[in-house]
Amino acid sequence: MKVNFPVAAAPDPAAAEAARLLFAGPVDFLKGVVHMDGLPPATRPEVCFAGRSNVGKSSLINALTGRKGLARASNTPGRTQEINYFTLGEHSYLVDLPGYGYAKAPLAIVAKWQTLLKTYLAGRQTLKRAFCLIDARHGIKEVDHEIMKLLDRSAVPFQVVMTKTDKLGPNALKPVLAQVAEELQKHPAAYPELVVTSSEKNEGIATLRTIIAGLD
Ligand code: GTP
Ligand code: MG
Repeated sequence: MKVNFPVAAAPDPAAAEAARLLFAGPVDFLKGVVHMDGLPPATRPEVCFAGRSNVGKSSLINALTGRKGLARASNTPGRTQEINYFTLGEHSYLVDLPGYGYAKAPLAIVAKWQTLLKTYLAGRQTLKRAFCLIDARHGIKEVDHEIMKLLDRSAVPFQVVMTKTDKLGPNALKPVLAQVAEELQKHPAAYPELVVTSSEKNEGIATLRTIIAGLD
């Protein structure tokens, strides 16, 4: 049976306002983790942001929280090299992950953080949802499938977030969304809804905030 992957509808205004207030409240960097032993105690729910290097994970966290310099973003693939924990008030943790795929860093170091990333994604009990970021210009690639397969096997629900849609022409989004929906048929852990965003233009950010605020 074919699963549909509609774009998330605009949130209900009351829920969106509650989410806005949550993300406008205190959000703080907690710690950068380089080894599974360093993870904070699993005492609250968390969501993470996964995706290829440079897809816009750190920028998305900055857009969600309205704080430009909170998560370090840059044009150098491989900027985020640790699992970075942020506290979203008392609600949850936001977790910024190192990218996968090509990164401008020594191979041995990349291999180390990739192992950590995979161990984290497969084994964090309090991980409520992984947001898998996909560049709207590129769609789902083989490396994305590898991570999604890992999430399938570990039964971690994941939701695709399209990024950088401001870089697309007006008619370019539709075919990419169709490709993504088709590729996601292979993944039982895929949540049947897409979020379409631009951190640059603040598009889809209120919708994603509302989704996160509503997770329990
Ligand atoms: P790594 O930590 O290296 O894996 O990268 P990342 O996924 O955290 O990407 P990051 O947020 O650092 O962004 C990479 C580059 O893309 C930066 O130059 C950002 O300014 C740019 N970028 C991120 N989001 C958007 C967006 O929505 N639109 C545009 N035009 N550029 C974006
Ligand atoms: Mg980053």
